Amino acid sequence: MKKQKILTGDRATGKLHLGHLAGSLSQRVELQYKHNQTILIADMQGLTDNGHNPEKVASNIINVIADYICAGINPELTIICLQSALPALAELTMFYSNLVSVSRLERNPTVRHEIKTKGFKDSIPAGFLTYPVSQAADITAFSATLIPVGEDQLPMIEQTNEIVRKINFITKKEILKECKALIGNVGRLPSLDGKSKMSKSSGFVINFDSSDNDIKKAVNSMFTDPNHTSVDKPGKIEGNVVFSYLEAFYKDGNHLEELKLNYQKGGLGDGTTKKILTECLIELIKPMREKREYLMNDKAELINMLKKGTEKSREITDKKCKEVKDNFGILLF
Ligand code: TRP
Repeated sequence: MKKQKILTGDRATGKLHLGHLAGSLSQRVELQYKHNQTILIADMQGLTDNGHNPEKVASNIINVIADYICAGINPELTIICLQSALPALAELTMFYSNLVSVSRLERNPTVRHEIKTKGFKDSIPAGFLTYPVSQAADITAFSATLIPVGEDQLPMIEQTNEIVRKINFITKKEILKECKALIGNVGRLPSLDGKSKMSKSSGFVINFDSSDNDIKKAVNSMFTDPNHTSVDKPGKIEGNVVFSYLEAFYKDGNHLEELKLNYQKGGLGDGTTKKILTECLIELIKPMREKREYLMNDKAELINMLKKGTEKSREITDKKCKEVKDNFGILLF
């Protein structure tokens, strides 16, 4: 694939966790060697449902940068920047919001789903309803063509491309580029009870600074096969959270296949599979936890890194915003 401009982002509303590692972070670590990658810490998007609690967002910015670095994102290869410090993104959002109807926003399936789960009822923040427009501003301001995201973000990519086509039609130029989603090959990591995906709202998560004991407790509480009532009985792999995690993180593929066969045949107990997973996750998290602790000892250095990435991004996004205004013909001086 030709070298592309990549933009991804995360809302700064909490520490990152194993779900992010399996779903997006490991993919970004690989992509940074092949493409031109920028990661946006989406603090403004984080505020769309935390407007009355800005402290929650502000305090998590530093957590998210530390999580990126200890997951293997290299700031020499990937630009990391802060959304709220890029005024062009807010400006473009205002332009684009005139081209999108409220009913179109209400039809966005991810927004609809979130409105329900967040329990806004009749008081949906206007900023929340319009966040797909702000995400279109993010993507187009960086002229990004490849967007590695989870499936839930596909409606945002679709809306972005609708806006791109409208702007290009109005200005009679190809000033904005359409983008494509890149859905990683790792499926969503389930929550510990297997009922939803791993997320803060689904209950306990394993973070990059979780202790060995927390990991042990999390694995022990994982949903397996309720009909697998004794070791010698056959057990089911589908829906078995322990195997989903082994699939995502266990390095020895051949051994994993053997374990699966034995489990399905009967003769392998949940105690053993849980022990194997616990050891695997401890081995994964321990070096990350140590690196994270080291990084958090020098927060000024982390902030400086973010500042540098943001300054580079400001040049890029300001230029794009000016180009849009120029082509709208409203920039008189
Ligand atoms: N909506 C994304 C999420 O919740 C975060 C995000 C904000 C983003 N701006 C972006 C992702 C631009 C990709 C590109 O995960």
